[in-house]
Amino acid sequence: MEIDFKRNLLSTFQDKEKLTPEEAHEEVEALRDAIEYHNYLYYVKNQPAISDAAYDRLFQRLRELEEAFPELQSAASPTRRVGAPPLEKLRKMKHTAPMLSLNASRDEEEVKRFDEFIHRSTGMQKVIYVVEPKFDGLSVEIVYKDGVFQYGATRGDGETGEDISENLKTIGTVPLRLQKDDIPSFISVHGEVFMSKKGFFQINKDRIEKGEKPFANPRNAAAGIVRLLDPKKVAGKPLSIVFYEIIRIEGKKFTSHWETLKKFPQWGLRTDLHNERCTSFKEMKKYHEKLSSLRYDLDYEIDGIVVKLDDYKLRAALGTRQRSPRWAFAWKFPPQEEITTVEDIVIQVGRTGILTPVALLQPVDVGGVTISRATLHNEEEVFRKDIRVGDTVKVVRAGDVIPEVIERIERTGKRKAERFSMPEKCPVCGSGVYKEGAYYFCTADLSCPAQQVGRIVHYASRRAVNIDGLGEKTVKQLVEKDMVHTIADLYRLSVEDFLTLEGFAEKLAKKLYRAIQSSKKIRLDRFLFALGVHHVGEHVAQVLAQKYRSLNALWNASQEDVEKTEGVGPEIARSIRHFFEQKENVRVLEQLRKAGVEVLDMPAFEKGLPLKGKTFVFTGTLEKYTRDEAERKVEALGGEAVSSVSGKTDFLVTGENPGSKLKDARKHGIKILDEKEFEELLKK
Ligand code: IVH
Repeated sequence: MEIDFKRNLLSTFQDKEKLTPEEAHEEVEALRDAIEYHNYLYYVKNQPAISDAAYDRLFQRLRELEEAFPELQSAASPTRRVGAPPLEKLRKMKHTAPMLSLNASRDEEEVKRFDEFIHRSTGMQKVIYVVEPKFDGLSVEIVYKDGVFQYGATRGDGETGEDISENLKTIGTVPLRLQKDDIPSFISVHGEVFMSKKGFFQINKDRIEKGEKPFANPRNAAAGIVRLLDPKKVAGKPLSIVFYEIIRIEGKKFTSHWETLKKFPQWGLRTDLHNERCTSFKEMKKYHEKLSSLRYDLDYEIDGIVVKLDDYKLRAALGTRQRSPRWAFAWKFPPQEEITTVEDIVIQVGRTGILTPVALLQPVDVGGVTISRATLHNEEEVFRKDIRVGDTVKVVRAGDVIPEVIERIERTGKRKAERFSMPEKCPVCGSGVYKEGAYYFCTADLSCPAQQVGRIVHYASRRAVNIDGLGEKTVKQLVEKDMVHTIADLYRLSVEDFLTLEGFAEKLAKKLYRAIQSSKKIRLDRFLFALGVHHVGEHVAQVLAQKYRSLNALWNASQEDVEKTEGVGPEIARSIRHFFEQKENVRVLEQLRKAGVEVLDMPAFEKGLPLKGKTFVFTGTLEKYTRDEAERKVEALGGEAVSSVSGKTDFLVTGENPGSKLKDARKHGIKILDEKEFEELLKK
């Protein structure tokens, strides 16, 4: 059997029951090879050669074969990328050779002296340097034997780190096998795990919404996540890796760093695109300048450049001193911090109603950008740092992360300003505020001007009420022109109103008008989600709709009763009660009703429940849902979840390590779904 999964994509596979163990072994190897190859094309070359669906088919087939032939399971299989079971603690791991760190400075003169030292000690007139960005992430070692991932560890103290293999495997840019091209019998590589800035913002947004403490910067976020004990919580996070040094190698020799950096990507080890060669201090300086302005355009954080001697023989002759090689130097960028004075502390109201204290500063230049405001995060942080008006403070700016007041330097003047306190009313709309965790929120969820655009956009979004054509741009215009303030106002708009908006002609205006009018009948679950009650996501909305069936029933339910709902904890229950108790919210709901919006009770909608009459059985562990959540999803869409397979079962949904139900289902000829297919079905 000669199967080339890299190019020849079979859409049907041989019946796995008919495979001999040898054939299965061969196919498993070919699949792993192909999957990692396509991974490499996708992540390293940025040139995917097959569709996501074709990739998924390969992945699914590999999963199935590994299940059917457990002896073929392997720690370096791509199936491990979805996350192994949680650990109790991270094991200590001795590095294959010490992981060095770099001599570093911000001072140009020191870099000049480094260059002079290199010339003096090598006795060479001209030397070649490689210049690279200095990544602000987390240093790791990864070991490959015969091209296969063995383990990966954090730097730790340079001698011993922590085993984070399972977490690293979930990162798409970490190859589990090197691409076959004169790979060494052994290689240990040094690289940096980092989080994209975009990913960082998203993660913090989610954390704030959940009432969790946001990460201070992408580096902390990456470091926190990569050391989690549960690899499933690492999988899917916006982490990536870049490789920059060999720690130890056997079975292959390089003569220069540049040669190494050219080889790395061919093996699938991603390197940075900004690496360059240069031969003088002048050129280093140019590179330093170039990167220090480029850094804000990059989607990852860098805090300097690294200058390295290219020639390995020269490197070896120079050696190391106190854990740092003599042949390299990090030239750091000027600090992104400055000292200034707090002129005032104001409260900013975000789009979800969150109240954030912000320091208004005496304007100060931080790394070329004038800063006049910086976040203080929340009340606890202000207290902890004890920041008051008039204080001298240190502010930092990291990339395009919002500037932040990190500490108080001293308090000038004799009379201290009053201790900061959060307002009792929303500074934007004057409604009351309430506290949840460390954060305060405005109570006028549906009518506070600060929240208007965000809330209306959410209400109209596809998974909520789904008003086609009502995106952020249009909502912004409507709000700015005072045409809408709350979701209820949408239903008062006429075709003529839309015609006053930029970019709207007759056809579009009519279309949007119709879309709004036809959104007047709304299924309860979608409506609940659309209201944007804190902590009520799609799933919770479905569970609640299923239990209470009508808006009135939920409205009148006590907190204790809501709390008893499966998957709804006290925090969510409190939030829901709270929402319906705010008179501002009640007013908007009342207006919606008057405008003709009808929230459909769940029974009235059952005809439209796509899974009505279908019976589901689950086996194995799903990645994204607990068993309970998956069953609720099915029920919310009208289906039934039962515990054992019978002739009446319509679908068996399989997760990791499925049990005997899989056999039963096959016996009955029941349709078997993997998690992805199951999700597709939920979307229908
Ligand atoms: S080379 C021989 N190259 O900076 C020293 N390190 O202070 C091995 N770093 O632990 C490191 N970007 O985490 C090297 N292009 C780069 C780097 C880099 C960031 C980090 C790395 C290292 C620390 C040294």
